[in-house]
Amino acid sequence: MASRLMALWNWFDARMPTAAEQWRIHAAEYYAPKNFNFWYFFGSLALLVLVIQIVSGIFLTMNYKPDAALAFGSVEYIMRDVPGGWIIRYIHSTGASAFFIVVYLHMFRGLLYGSYKQPRELVWIFGVVIYLSLMGEAFFGYLLPWGQMSYWGAQVIVNLFGTVPFIGPDLALWIRGDYVVSDATLNRFFALHVIALPLVLLGLVVVHLLALHDVGSNNPDGVDIKKVKDANGHPVDGIPFHPYYTVKDIMGAVVFLGVFCFVLFFVPEVGGYFLEYNNFIPADPLKTPPHIAPVWYFTPYYSILRAVPPLFNSQFPGVLAMGVAVLIFFFLPWLDRSPVKSIRYRGSLWKAALAIFVVVFLVLGYLGTEPTTVWGQFKDPWNILDTKDVATWVARLCSIVYFLFFFLMPWYTARDSVKPVPERVTA
Ligand code: HEM
Repeated sequence: MASRLMALWNWFDARMPTAAEQWRIHAAEYYAPKNFNFWYFFGSLALLVLVIQIVSGIFLTMNYKPDAALAFGSVEYIMRDVPGGWIIRYIHSTGASAFFIVVYLHMFRGLLYGSYKQPRELVWIFGVVIYLSLMGEAFFGYLLPWGQMSYWGAQVIVNLFGTVPFIGPDLALWIRGDYVVSDATLNRFFALHVIALPLVLLGLVVVHLLALHDVGSNNPDGVDIKKVKDANGHPVDGIPFHPYYTVKDIMGAVVFLGVFCFVLFFVPEVGGYFLEYNNFIPADPLKTPPHIAPVWYFTPYYSILRAVPPLFNSQFPGVLAMGVAVLIFFFLPWLDRSPVKSIRYRGSLWKAALAIFVVVFLVLGYLGTEPTTVWGQFKDPWNILDTKDVATWVARLCSIVYFLFFFLMPWYTARDSVKPVPERVTA
């Protein structure tokens, strides 16, 4: 049997040696630093979730109907009548949140170890484009169940484009394909969600990894392992990706799938965070829900949007702030002037700034899920900038700190005291 398989492989290899060569370049002879830690699981986990989403999405599409009159019912049909349909749907809805959890942790690793710094700027830039595409993918997908939140969430987000000066109303009309969110909108969002963006995402992940493998992986020490090589020209502090990291990543995947299954079988809605309760009510264009909030992964930006007061009755300043808050990630490689990459060798300025940024991001995220009155109102009419909500003021403060983290970065990273970086990895 083994010799037959070998013969088959030899036949294949003689006709397409590229396959074995690519395996060598990207796995068997790709030397990765030997000191990868917990934070390095999230790249491969993001790949795993991408596959989970594509496979579960294909099966959902077999029974879903992209028609405003049928969509909500078809999702209920999948949940109740299609054999195994409920689990496929929960896999896909849980996978959406898991994707963002994994990607946020993956991005945070980049901040911890300065993975975006030279020579990995392109890896980071492709990463940020992936992040934007993922936001688009999640937004388009959220309309498909045609529940109250799907409908009104889409209405709110598309209307934001309507605030852009001069072209806004035409732009919103173009996105919706109608004057309100309607069947036409559902059809185009379906096309974008099941075909266009998955293709874009797959292509981006390929270039993300090609760019990474061209320069090599960073590591928790932020030192360049290519500087010290053995007689064969291999980095002394590197180990072949396969089998060492394939095995390690499988371990990460098993733990991840354990947690994933727990959510799937015991708390698929996660208290309304993964599946919002209002979305179990069919879309009703005549009934606006009292509290419209996006899914948790968008809420930090939603908070920033709500925190910025309107100018001349236009919400555009908030929309602009929200856009800048996301796009600013592109500039990180140039905003960070520190001579060292890893947090291990950085000074207290960077450590404090990063810790504050994380807290502020989480507070903004929490506030975005709640009504602005969550923490009550000021007793006396402290009506500066037209609001008395405590939460709005906290969100304003946090938004300012969010932007200061980036805008002041060239200043504090250049002045931070750094420790000497070792020649070799310390593990
Ligand atoms: C579908 C989403 C994504 C997938 C499948 C993915 C996949 C990967 C994989 C497999 C690696 C190598 C293993 C590792 O270092 O963890 C990696 C590295 C990296 N990714 Fe991603 N990634 C995604 C999104 C992102 C995003 C959104 C960013 C940043 C905005 C990003 C930035 C980086 C950086 C900087 C590295 C190099 C890290 C280092 O060498 O220390 N990635 N990615």
